[in-house]
Amino acid sequence: MQLVLATNNSDKIKEMKHLLDDLPVTIMTRDDFLEFPDIEETGDTLEKNAALKASGIAEFCDLPALADDTGLLVDALDGAPGVYSSRYAGENVTYEDNNRKLLEELQGIPTEMRTARFRCVITIDWDNGEEDTVVGEVEGLIAESITPGGGFGYDPLFYHPASGKTFSEMSLDEKNAISHRGLALQKVRDVIINRLNNARR
Ligand code: IMP
Repeated sequence: MQLVLATNNSDKIKEMKHLLDDLPVTIMTRDDFLEFPDIEETGDTLEKNAALKASGIAEFCDLPALADDTGLLVDALDGAPGVYSSRYAGENVTYEDNNRKLLEELQGIPTEMRTARFRCVITIDWDNGEEDTVVGEVEGLIAESITPGGGFGYDPLFYHPASGKTFSEMSLDEKNAISHRGLALQKVRDVIINRLNNARR
């Protein structure tokens, strides 16, 4: 089985490869193709955007494709930035710009009201008219300041109470074990394994 990761985000590619590595599947990325389109996220939900990206790349590459769309949903902001998480501070902004805007919007909001969740929707378009979609979510709190460390996006602000750290303070393995994308990718593993078993029957 070949599967193309339908993303241009190298941070996501790293996490996805790490979690799908041991499956009997050839994982392909943009680097395996001479051309690789950037599918515009025109949907108004994470589900629509994941499906758009998966079907766009499956059609372009003529292979099954996996796409995720992720949003940070902050309760005190009525679910913002949500589907607009990558462009919260505007078009072509940095992760840091988005983090600063989020801190500004939450200024004066006490800890107990800074509840939030990451929601990750993953669609696999099998390039035969069939698709599978799974969802992973993780609950947390938005920190009062940016914590140094690794990760990407809103990781420096996403505090996971049960771990006592933000996502940026975790190793990739620690984050993958509890994160929205990690949980969704666990479900993706089951979907792929079922498909491989059915193909063998
Ligand atoms: P996308 O639309 O799925 O590419 O993701 C939207 C935005 O959510 C990204 O630009 C990141 O800022 C943020 N994001 C997605 N996944 C993560 C994550 O695992 N940690 C932190 N931020 C993330």
